[in-house]
Amino acid sequence: MSFPPSFLDELRARSSLAQVVGRRVRLTKRGRDFVGLCPFHKEKTPSFNVVEDKGFFHCFGCGAHGDVIGFVMQSSGLGFREAVEQLAAEAGLEVPRASPQEMARAQRQVDLQAAMAAACRFFEEQLWSPRGAGALAYLRQRGLDEATIRRFRLGFAPDARDGLKRALAGVPEALLVEGGLLRRPDDGGASYDWFRNRIIFPIGDRGGRVIAFGGRVLGDGQPKYLNSPDTPLFQKGRVLYGWAAAREAAQKAPSAIVTEGYMDVIALHRAGFATAVAPLGTALTEAQIEELWRLAPEPILCFDGDAAGERAALRAAERALPILRPGLTLRFASLPAGEDPDTLILRFGAATMREILDAARPLGEVIWAAERGSGALATPERRAALERRLEERARAIADRDVAKNYRQFFRNKLFEAFSAGRGRGRPGAKAARFKEPLPDQVPPSNPDPRRLLRRRSEQALLAAILNHPVLLDELAEELASFDFSAPELDKLRGAILNLAALHSELDAQRLRDHLCQDGFTRAVDGLLNSQVYNHARFSRPDAELAVVREGWRRVCHGLQESGQLALEIDRAERELAQDMTDSAQARLARLVVLKQRREGAEGAAEDEAAGDGTH
Ligand code: UTP
Ligand code: MN
Repeated sequence: MSFPPSFLDELRARSSLAQVVGRRVRLTKRGRDFVGLCPFHKEKTPSFNVVEDKGFFHCFGCGAHGDVIGFVMQSSGLGFREAVEQLAAEAGLEVPRASPQEMARAQRQVDLQAAMAAACRFFEEQLWSPRGAGALAYLRQRGLDEATIRRFRLGFAPDARDGLKRALAGVPEALLVEGGLLRRPDDGGASYDWFRNRIIFPIGDRGGRVIAFGGRVLGDGQPKYLNSPDTPLFQKGRVLYGWAAAREAAQKAPSAIVTEGYMDVIALHRAGFATAVAPLGTALTEAQIEELWRLAPEPILCFDGDAAGERAALRAAERALPILRPGLTLRFASLPAGEDPDTLILRFGAATMREILDAARPLGEVIWAAERGSGALATPERRAALERRLEERARAIADRDVAKNYRQFFRNKLFEAFSAGRGRGRPGAKAARFKEPLPDQVPPSNPDPRRLLRRRSEQALLAAILNHPVLLDELAEELASFDFSAPELDKLRGAILNLAALHSELDAQRLRDHLCQDGFTRAVDGLLNSQVYNHARFSRPDAELAVVREGWRRVCHGLQESGQLALEIDRAERELAQDMTDSAQARLARLVVLKQRREGAEGAAEDEAAGDGTH
């Protein structure tokens, strides 16, 4: 509920900011202003300023900023209305009573909330009743247990025109229509249930009160998801699914993970990432980014690792630029192409999800990579164009301090890129060599989720051998000539081959014992686990020998071919950097397309290898 602006102006004028702040902070006068130790972060020297005649405070340490009402809200955790009421009482001002229209509107909201709560209960009951058996089975089959289903209050809308309508017969029809629970057809016929034969995901407000629903068809069908329409309680672009639960978790350890779907939020929660949220089928809005910053200063956005995902990431970064503030930013994690957090966790486990989140790129890196592109910077004109594009990006940032730092960041990047281009070798490669990273410099950009998958496949090759050493007779030669991408796998391979040469007829147990004696315990444990087994079923101890042999050969050859291709691409890039000819460019493009095509095929093969039970 809002106050007349004139009243708020009066309230600000009558309250002394220095006096209100002075109750919490010891202030000393400096010129016309006051300074003190900031109450919003720990500090030893004062950077908290009160500009009395302008009526605002600002902390140069943590960026806290606001007027007298904001100070009361932030320092005592009050809501806007309560803060205003408290200040008004102190200033001897009477709080204007809401107008009759406002009172009516507020009452309407309360009634709507009650209707949504009743609908939520109805859907929930339906899910656990015989009518919901199919829906419940569907959720179970997607890996959800009872505790999770109850925790998220998932429900079921029965396959009927008036299931909800009849259950809520005591609630005025107009209210149910306004709340988006019933739909009135244009031809003036009887209203009917908005959600029919769908799994129901209740959507909460900041306090966890239900304000809308998402409904998913069981299995395939269109549209896959149907959301409540916008209502007085619910504006799609301002709400994040799972926010209240995420807030609870974020208060213990600030973090925020943004994904696309309802099922992803739930899967992440189940895997221990309790600060996961999702927008409701649209790109993130500014309002939603602000909501994220209420959870944590550097939320991580997850995107599909394909080209469309990369574009979506860039759009989110662009959206955030104007509203960045000191300390507040976004980070970007990219998932292997075709995976969402739900499928990724099912197939590869929570640890892999963790690795991907930890490798998230800072916002500045995303912008830089997009502007830098992949072409060579061989001419001054191209460099100038790049400089200009980066300057435009920095100019989009409203906060002056953040903008200044972005300019600096881009300048460093340009310097590195230009000096790399002067020498031989790939763009960027040389810079890394002669410039030691500063301690607090960002981690290397562009972590490739494909690399992660490649490593899992390589692990699976070794795990299969450890579990079925009898295959060494046939596979030793291929194993010996395989190019492992990680030195520890390379070493382990060497040890296995040595042992095989020394001892004939090793069984799995003895091979493992020998390796542990030789100091490979950790390396072995890193392989023989469900993450690797889920990635490639042929590596399991209980897989049939014929399956192991076939899977091993297929994966081994696939990896070798794509490794070869990567080398060629590397070479082609280097040639292109030295010599920007059309033919060099065409050759690189051809190789990249070939690689993408092969990766597509590989992905399909991995799906096959992951097999049943995971999807
Ligand atoms: P996805 O298609 O990625 O769905 O849409 P999902 O969440 O992975 O669902 P499952 O795993 O197939 O069950 C991502 C989000 O986009 C919105 C929903 O919010 C969904 O969670 N969406 C999607 C819609 O609003 N309508 C649609 O028809 C599809
Ligand atoms: Mn999904």
